[in-house]
Amino acid sequence: MINSIKLKKMFLEFFKINGHEVITNASLIPENDPSALFTSAGMHPLVPYLLGQPHPNGRRLVNVQKCLRTSDIDEVGDSFHLSFFEMLGNWSLGDYFKEKSIPWSYKFLTEKKWLGINKERLYVTVFAGDEKVPRDTESAKIWEELGIPNEKIFYLSRKDNWWGPVGNTGPCGPDTEIFYDTGKEPCGTDCKPGCSCGKYNEIWNNVFMEYNKTLDGEYIPLHQRNVDTGMGVERTVAVLQGKDNVYDTEIFFPLIEKLKKLMDVDEVPETQTRSIRVICDHIRAATFILAEGITPLNVEQGYVLRRLIRGAIRHGRMIGLDKEFLSKLSQIVILSYNDDYPYLKQKEEFIVSELVKEYNRFSNTLARGLNRFNRIAAEKKKIDSKDAFLLYQSFGFPIEITRELGYESGIDVDVNGFHEELMKHQQVSKAGADKRFGSGLADTAEATVKLHTATHLLNEALRQVLGKEIYQKGSNITQKRLRFDFNFDRKITDYELKQVEDLVNKQISKALPVKRIETTLDEAIEMGCQAVFEQKYGEKVSVYIIDDFSKELCSGPHVENTRELGRFKIVKEEGISAGVRRIRAILE
Ligand code: SER
Repeated sequence: MINSIKLKKMFLEFFKINGHEVITNASLIPENDPSALFTSAGMHPLVPYLLGQPHPNGRRLVNVQKCLRTSDIDEVGDSFHLSFFEMLGNWSLGDYFKEKSIPWSYKFLTEKKWLGINKERLYVTVFAGDEKVPRDTESAKIWEELGIPNEKIFYLSRKDNWWGPVGNTGPCGPDTEIFYDTGKEPCGTDCKPGCSCGKYNEIWNNVFMEYNKTLDGEYIPLHQRNVDTGMGVERTVAVLQGKDNVYDTEIFFPLIEKLKKLMDVDEVPETQTRSIRVICDHIRAATFILAEGITPLNVEQGYVLRRLIRGAIRHGRMIGLDKEFLSKLSQIVILSYNDDYPYLKQKEEFIVSELVKEYNRFSNTLARGLNRFNRIAAEKKKIDSKDAFLLYQSFGFPIEITRELGYESGIDVDVNGFHEELMKHQQVSKAGADKRFGSGLADTAEATVKLHTATHLLNEALRQVLGKEIYQKGSNITQKRLRFDFNFDRKITDYELKQVEDLVNKQISKALPVKRIETTLDEAIEMGCQAVFEQKYGEKVSVYIIDDFSKELCSGPHVENTRELGRFKIVKEEGISAGVRRIRAILE
């Protein structure tokens, strides 16, 4: 039987024979990509090479990459979704394309010498095309030539058959996905590959990265056509071991055995299956995140770690584990991954001690928080934003836990309201966001970019209303709001705030173009640019000009025209230290 270790070896071997060089399994925390918290696909570390930079190992690469995806956390516990997983990938950087990639995948999957998977069980999907990118008939044709019958080839939309970019912009393209039919009954008449019911197990994705997505949402052909494939180790092992879900494979076996011991049972009752799966998934992910030196916190990677650990503790409580159990499970994870990730062992003491600490922090408040939740739920039949915030603040419930509790008991939880509430109380998100992008941007999502341009308008409006001596002392922008700190030594009146707001909205309604130019620092200062304090600039600087209203030294990104912004609204003004005021504003 092929186990996960063997599968990884075979994959590397197969592609080495076909001219690929093995590259390293990159860190779970992206090194050069501040826009993402975790490496969620093999392409993260390869983005510059997909864009055309020559890779030192050549144009054909192969790797095993550990990944963490938070986007699927809600589905963890079903048959195939995991937060942490390993992905096998072969890469063409402007070398081969569909004509080789698809036949290689098919060969590796089906030939006896390799995985020997039953061809009859395979289904594929290809990109159906839309107004921006044509239908991928080429891939479909290759599949047909290989012997996949027409009725097993499905054309799906961008939602299913498109991959990337990792942030808002960058390399991306249509993909073709390979599914294995588990043999389960279809969930309905429309059940087909891509359906989430668990009948079809998506095992491999071949992405044909030939586009670069720009900030304005266009797809420009790249200079080189790349291939990025991703084969899920856990999912493929499930196929090879005849299982209809990843948790029944050899990969999770030792964890589940340990859990059964801790629960003192021989068999896991059906009703507890989901809790068991969630715990297995979360402890594996938490162990790998901790090994990167991350500790549980309320921001960024630390927050994801915290919600994984606390989620596991809650599920532990549901299956009757009322003593600390996570450290014991993480030792199993460390042991089972010792061959490929020996560094886990070196971090064991840290991992164990952080898990124990977090357990102690949360287990004290968990029972009381659950009581509180039940009381509110019984009285109000819903959890409003204030309740959710109370559970977070006083009982340490990550919002995801509250949402899950709501789901389990069939009552609504105001998750959006919670986030607004959190923002009102939170000065601390600065800790993370400021260091991530030069201009204090948390990411480069469309909403964040709009708020960034609004920040430039606000900066100038403040100068026009309050006085030319105003300058920026800090800025922090998320997808939800901007926060702008500046020098001023008294409270700003409501009338002045209204003037500032109106002035910004006037520029938005004027539909002013936003232009970027490159110049030298001296010239920029001569032009009368606003320059952010303490920022280091190279010889050339970039300046963003909003018609004749604002000029600011800035590395972007920005929208192209102020009309994209919507309505600007100041939600709060306050003093944060002597002579420094802070404004929070949103776009509606
Ligand atoms: N990036 C693609 C995926 O994760 C293929 O590697 O599916």
